[in-house]
Amino acid sequence: TGLTALDYGFVNTASTQSEITYIDGNQGILRYRGYPIEQLAEHSTYLEVAWLLLYGSLPTADELGEFDEKIRRHTLLHEDLKRFFSALPHTAHPMSVLSSAVSALSTYYEGQDPDDVELTMVRLLAKLPVIAAYAHKKSLGQAFLYPDNSLSFVDNFLRLNFGNMAEPYEIDPVLSKALDRLLILHEDHEQNASTSTVRLVGSTGANLYASISAGIQALSGPLHGGANEAVLQMLAQIRDSGEGVGKFVERVKRKEDGVKLMGFGHRVYKNYDPRATIVKQSADEVLAGLGVADPLLDIAKELEQFALQDDYFKERRLYPNVDFYTGVIYKAMGFPTRMFTVLFAIGRLPGWMAHWREMNLDPQTKIGRPQQLYIGEPERRYPGA
Ligand code: CMC
Repeated sequence: TGLTALDYGFVNTASTQSEITYIDGNQGILRYRGYPIEQLAEHSTYLEVAWLLLYGSLPTADELGEFDEKIRRHTLLHEDLKRFFSALPHTAHPMSVLSSAVSALSTYYEGQDPDDVELTMVRLLAKLPVIAAYAHKKSLGQAFLYPDNSLSFVDNFLRLNFGNMAEPYEIDPVLSKALDRLLILHEDHEQNASTSTVRLVGSTGANLYASISAGIQALSGPLHGGANEAVLQMLAQIRDSGEGVGKFVERVKRKEDGVKLMGFGHRVYKNYDPRATIVKQSADEVLAGLGVADPLLDIAKELEQFALQDDYFKERRLYPNVDFYTGVIYKAMGFPTRMFTVLFAIGRLPGWMAHWREMNLDPQTKIGRPQQLYIGEPERRYPGA
């Protein structure tokens, strides 16, 4: 069939050209549209970076203002969609709720504006944080709040998660700034598993809601975005078992029951993940700023030190990735562990949409359809045939 290469896990195969994100995994470089991640994390905002990823250049003040305004106008969920949450158990994982609700969004908008991708992108940017906060509130058995469109994107999200009907919500600027920065760090990462999923689903002509819903599910796995949740569980387990960092690492090295050092290793980075460098620096600042001391942060630092000096990790060039320290910060902010990957999904949404858009504008795009190497039975005769 003209098949020339077998490439498990797409280690060596490029599925597309892209102008969006540049990574040099050996040197630990990450740039969105040419801008170093360190500069964006320091000086930009989530919405400005979203525009940058989608349209290729930084917005003017007017463009950003208009974009922000449009997003604020689309935060409300249809009241019927709000009832959709009642059909799900309160124990449901918020990632499953998020993906299901995004899929359900397509039932409200399908057919209304099939060609208006720009409006769909605005709707998704506006509504995903609201759905995420409702998934959180649902798990707590608390009432959903209506968005307050006088607030910024991040403040609105924080209020929907941590505010209640009885009292006014006080914005903590330390929290807002820290969350905005974490969202920026997650906005894109070229052809990772969830982005490739979004592209693959989109390549069939399926709509943007369907593609993003599939991307959210792909992100949920512990080898991908779900790692931030798994890191916190690992740190808590080390603390509670009293086994100590050294013994835990020994078990990892023996690959006992497939146990891994979660938040370590990366397909592309064979050096320190530049996002992890920023998150690690933020962790101390944010915890101090919020007045929180967490022994899990000390365990994480000890674990990192231990691993970085160990031959197993050195030989395999395994370094902390973005998920290693984020969970400690999210926990300090007050998010439950099961919400961590949801925060990653909100962060990644602009990247997913930028890739979906780029793919649809690229005349070379074809339906994604990997080949296989058949290793099953040769032709056999059905009894009696
Ligand atoms: N702990 C222990 N050993 C590891 C780890 C780890 N975290 N990661 C890789 N290895 C070992 C692996 O067992 C293999 O060893 P050997 O050569 O003896 O077979 C070697 O290192 C190469 O690893 P690989 O599995 O072939 O690498 P990969 O590129 O296929 O996988 C990865 C990349 C991220 C899935 C993997 O490193 C991993 O499972 N890490 C833990 C989960 C994690 O933190 N995921 C988040 C990734 S970053 C953000 C995101 O994408 O969402």
